[in-house]
Amino acid sequence: MKHANSNFYIGCISGTSMDGLDVALLDLQTDSKMQIKAATTVALPAQLRTQLLQLALTGDDDIDTLGYADVTLGAFIGHTINDFMTSHSIRSQDIVAIGSHGQTVRHRPPTEKTAGFTLQIGDANQIAEITGITTVADFRRRDMAAGGQGAPLVPPFHQALFAAVGAMPVILNIGGISNISILGKPTRGFDTGPGNCLLDSWCEEHIHKPYDEGGQWAQQGQVDDHLLHTLLQDPYFASPPPKSTGREYFNLAWLKHHLNSQTPNDVQATLCELTARCTVDTLAQLSVEYSHLIVCGGGRCNDYLMQRLAALSPAQTDACEAFGVDGDSLEAAAFAWLAQRTLTGKSGNAPAVTGAMQERILGAIYHK
Ligand SMILES: Nc1ncnc2c1ncn2[C@@H]1O[C@H](COP(=O)(O)OP(=O)(O)OP(=O)(O)O)[C@@H](O)[C@H]1O
Ligand SMILES: [Mg+2]
Repeated sequence: MKHANSNFYIGCISGTSMDGLDVALLDLQTDSKMQIKAATTVALPAQLRTQLLQLALTGDDDIDTLGYADVTLGAFIGHTINDFMTSHSIRSQDIVAIGSHGQTVRHRPPTEKTAGFTLQIGDANQIAEITGITTVADFRRRDMAAGGQGAPLVPPFHQALFAAVGAMPVILNIGGISNISILGKPTRGFDTGPGNCLLDSWCEEHIHKPYDEGGQWAQQGQVDDHLLHTLLQDPYFASPPPKSTGREYFNLAWLKHHLNSQTPNDVQATLCELTARCTVDTLAQLSVEYSHLIVCGGGRCNDYLMQRLAALSPAQTDACEAFGVDGDSLEAAAFAWLAQRTLTGKSGNAPAVTGAMQERILGAIYHK
């Protein structure tokens, strides 16, 4: 790869679905001139994934498990980035910095009564040591310290990337949790609720697959209107932004609390409808006028979910590939972008999104 410039940043994230580590190489000349040059997703080693899933649920929280998972994930990220650079013939000295999100193992947004905290692991000391590249990490906690939710952080990046689309698009990222960016001045955004997390967990429990390929299983079931209505009554959906959530809230225990005698197949169909409705309904409640719904994240590969979104939303609904953007690497690229913001002394958060008092320079820098 030709790389005679100093605008290359690598971003990486292991999202709430824990399906793998996404890595993206971003060529960042200016905000309006940036390009994802290469990307990959690498599955997490099975034992590490099991540990991370365990840590993401409330239970016997153990500091040893947390500490070892932190360094193991950090080392895995470092080696994965080295392999990624080798396979694209890039040298470490060609990369300005890595922006590493890490793995969220707990996200407790602030409430009226408590300060809240958010915890991402994947030790950036390991990443800087193994790659020899300056690494920026721990992006969320400064926003929270400034009174924000610490999430979502991607809307300003979506704004920069899709500014040229014009005509009021909404970007929907369907990861484990779904989040939207409502482009405009100011850009707004929040987590709308479950994305794939419930679909995946239910699928794993009943048909022993990590996800419902193309949404085929859901498509064979019937939506249970009563169950759907009950689930949509959860106060999270009607609560006003700023808001963010995680799998410590939307998980199988939450779902099972509302189930009675539905068949597993009908539950999957209903969960798929829930994922589509929680976004489309919230946009309607907030009277957001949008001409395009641009979908990124793994959920865009769920054909049945995409059909339901297109049917329910008043806007033209497309996967982001329709706009020349690879929907698997977008979140990773966002953290490359955020690393550049930090290193150039620019703010990374959008107070209108997170609810922070003011813009802040995010993250901690681990020098090479
Ligand atoms: N072919 C497919 N059919 C159905 N679902 C799919 C398909 N491909 C991916 N998915 C879904 O996408 C999920 C992965 O999406 P993604 O990587 O965006 O989530 P994430 O890692 O949680 O992201 P985030 O960083 O936004 O939290 C899988 O767990 C699965 O549910
Ligand atoms: Mg993922």
